Amino acid sequence: MKKLVKNNVNWVGYMDWELERFHGDEYSILNGSSQNAYLIQEEKTVLVDTVWTPHRDDFVNNLKEEIDLHEIDYIVMNHGEADHSGSLAALLKEIPGTPVYCTAAAVQSLEGQYGKQGWNFHTVKTGDTLDIGNGKQLIFVEMKMLHWPDSMATYMTGDNILFSMDAFGQHFAVEEMFNDCADQAKLYKEAMKYFANILSPFAPLVTKKLKEISKLNLPIDIIAPAHGVVWRDHPEQIVEKYAEWANAYQENQITVAYDTMWEGTAKLAHAIADEIHVQSPDTVVKVYNISKTDKNELMTEVFKSKAIAVGSPTCVNDVLTSVAGWLSFLKTLKFRGKKAAAFGCYGWSGESVKILKEKLGAAGFKVVDPEVKSCWNPDEDDFAKVPALVSALLEETK
Ligand SMILES: Cc1cc2nc3c(=O)[nH]c(=O)nc-3n(C[C@H](O)[C@H](O)[C@H](O)COP(=O)(O)O)c2cc1C
Ligand SMILES: [Fe+2]
Ligand SMILES: [Fe+2]
Repeated sequence: MKKLVKNNVNWVGYMDWELERFHGDEYSILNGSSQNAYLIQEEKTVLVDTVWTPHRDDFVNNLKEEIDLHEIDYIVMNHGEADHSGSLAALLKEIPGTPVYCTAAAVQSLEGQYGKQGWNFHTVKTGDTLDIGNGKQLIFVEMKMLHWPDSMATYMTGDNILFSMDAFGQHFAVEEMFNDCADQAKLYKEAMKYFANILSPFAPLVTKKLKEISKLNLPIDIIAPAHGVVWRDHPEQIVEKYAEWANAYQENQITVAYDTMWEGTAKLAHAIADEIHVQSPDTVVKVYNISKTDKNELMTEVFKSKAIAVGSPTCVNDVLTSVAGWLSFLKTLKFRGKKAAAFGCYGWSGESVKILKEKLGAAGFKVVDPEVKSCWNPDEDDFAKVPALVSALLEETK
């Protein structure tokens, strides 16, 4: 079933209530998601993107109910990733030879994934246009590395719709489709989670791209991303949020993240949290066990934080495997302007705190000197070191 976006533009995507994991097991989906595809029916009929492979039959059959597939004059592929290109092969089997408009990098990613099938590619660059009749045009804008080399956005004149691809999207299923119909708290949480977990590594490029788009002076009435809600009510609100989020975003929050085998490091984590409350009652403090908390939710909390404290006991001369994996994920996100402290228990060799500090430094955090390193279970002397760690974290973040 199609859903009206505006005038002759309809949503023909897939509402994915049942999705729980995305990118393998790399991204948790807690509120469903959608793969958005759009059908433009001006003098020319244009399909913007498709949906993920598991839903290709639904997608193609649905399209057939709306139109004769042979009416499709052009297909625009804003991005080659399988969640948007996964139905292209099935569709092109029905209408071979239909021109596919995409970037040169998308030709590589599409042929790399689906093989060289002789599809009728038309490569485009920023500023290239395509007339679709009724005085309207599509204008293409490359979005290199947001978040793949092949990403681009497509702007439709006349209706002033920006088909923004993954940018401004969220993994969030909203049956009513539009941003003003969604639960606002959930919407912003999901949009931030998407930014923190998918776009953060490319934040400087987001800043640059937003400036470039604003210089084009295109009126934007609607932002139609590839996942989640269509922004029709004050679409500039999500653009402004992206500008904020891309600029070393932080709130007055400190997140304490740890793992433990015998609860000693957990006691230190909670002592640190309690001390933050004492020294800075206004600072929001959250404590999580890394191995028991959804990693993407936790990364969203880190994204909001001005500082973090990370704890692990020493286990076979290293940190716990859960913490090692988490630190490696943290490094890929390239968060900026945040401070970090390290703590943990040990029994004999005690390498964990040093390793934590090195890895936090390598992940781009400014690591404070004071640490809490407790031989076996923390005692009074160890807890006495907590205030210095906390005041260093708070001082450094003022
Ligand atoms: C499987 C295992 C391996 C350990 N390896 C080391 C080690 O290499 N070096 C060390 O200093 N302590 C090591 N320990 C001791 C722990 O670091 C110590 O028990 C610590 O107090 C545990 O902190 P927790 O209560 O936060 O789990 C090991 C403990 C376990 C259970
Ligand atoms: Fe993508
Ligand atoms: Fe996507």
